Amino acid sequence: MTKRSYEIDQMISAKAIAARVEDLAREITAHYEGTEKLVVVGLLRGSFIFIADLVREIGLPVEVDFLEASSYGDAMQSSREVRILKDLRGEVAGRDVLVVEDIVDTGFTLSHVTALLRSRGPKRLEVCALLDKPSRREVDMKATWTGFTIPDEFVVGYGIDFAQSNRNLPYIGKVRFTEDT
Ligand code: IMP
Repeated sequence: MTKRSYEIDQMISAKAIAARVEDLAREITAHYEGTEKLVVVGLLRGSFIFIADLVREIGLPVEVDFLEASSYGDAMQSSREVRILKDLRGEVAGRDVLVVEDIVDTGFTLSHVTALLRSRGPKRLEVCALLDKPSRREVDMKATWTGFTIPDEFVVGYGIDFAQSNRNLPYIGKVRFTEDT
């Protein structure tokens, strides 16, 4: 009998992630310099580690809020239909906003979420994504800041899951399927 299991190969080390997060935070701090307060919106659940590291490197007053949109569920297929499962607690009208996402894949999630938040009239709204898989894009969507551009691989770690596992890996790894006999 064959059993399908998987192994994880490291793709981006914890050290490389930390260095890139510092760069991103420096650029974000310069961009919003002078802001009264930056509303940093993390998209749950994949961005929770990235946002925690990023806000600690941002040299501005920040407010942290979270929004949850439906994405892959427990499968590896993206869905075109994006639903808001948990909305923000705070207001974004007239405020400086930064949306923080783990991965831009087809682009459906971010285009839906940014359209929703823009309809609420923020003063400025930008997007920071840790990873970008441009070869998978189906809608025109580009983050203002991207940590790493990666090929079309299924990745896990640093907050990102495969069927709700592996979020706690300190690095980004790619999933490699193996057949056990
Ligand atoms: P999009 O709407 O297709 O851009 O999907 C974005 C969401 O899909 C991300 O926020 C992730 O939650 C999920 N996703 C996309 N690629 C991967 C991956 O390689 N591993 C785990 N989740 C992924």
